[in-house]
Amino acid sequence: MALALLEALNLHVRYGGISAVKGISFAVEENEIVCLIGANGAGKTSTLKALARMIPSSGEIHYRTERIEAVPSHDLIGRGLALVPEGRGIFARLTVAENLAMGAYHRRDATGIADDFERVFALLPRLKERKAQVAGTLSGGEQQMLAIGRALMGRPKLLLLDEPSMGLAPLMVEKVFEVIRAVAAEGMTILLVEQNARLALEVCSRGYVMESGLITLADSSAALLADSRVRAAYLGE
Ligand SMILES: Nc1ncnc2c1ncn2[C@@H]1O[C@H](COP(=O)(O)OP(=O)(O)O)[C@@H](O)[C@H]1O
Ligand SMILES: [Mg+2]
Repeated sequence: MALALLEALNLHVRYGGISAVKGISFAVEENEIVCLIGANGAGKTSTLKALARMIPSSGEIHYRTERIEAVPSHDLIGRGLALVPEGRGIFARLTVAENLAMGAYHRRDATGIADDFERVFALLPRLKERKAQVAGTLSGGEQQMLAIGRALMGRPKLLLLDEPSMGLAPLMVEKVFEVIRAVAAEGMTILLVEQNARLALEVCSRGYVMESGLITLADSSAALLADSRVRAAYLGE
């Protein structure tokens, strides 16, 4: 197996007296698409926020060649670790193009940014058509695409996606997942968090199941899709 791009060891997240993540360990290899599935409240968002250093945690987080527990979140963006948060976090009053430009703000090489716009627009033609539109007036699915596009503007090595299907109509969910497939096909490494286990396992090669702050199952997507516990708890069977 290749060297892991990301590895968490014994990760814990606590909110006051509440323990949301209770000592989980997992890894994502370079060029892998891995999912973390689980019910609402399982601790998925807390895990991603801890990886992106947006909330404190204990345990080890290895990213590329270093330990990142003490690295501030804004420095991680420059090192290629990008989180597309639950709820998207776009700037509603800015245009699509302005939102995308924000995704490249940390970069010093202004020359490459025009190329990045072209690359992102090629993956997300809906955004190109709407580049002058104020982001707050986009549909939910378009906002999710914008959030992904903005992260791609920073030329990430690792994309952390938190519930990209949340709140979207089924047709829009399909379109957003087509984008995720296209990004994956370009060789991006992705850690995908989803309550929609079927969709997530269909795009990922491997998955972890999280329940009440613990990882309870870890296997290939094919094995998880066939697992009676997963089928009963997450696939509505
Ligand atoms: N800011 C917070 N303060 C206190 N408890 C929180 C906070 N954020 C999340 N939690 C709690 O942590 C647990 C895990 O939440 P979360 O990581 O958002 O789960 P998921 O993303 O899997 O739905 C839940 O019990 C939730 O209520
Ligand atoms: Mg969540």
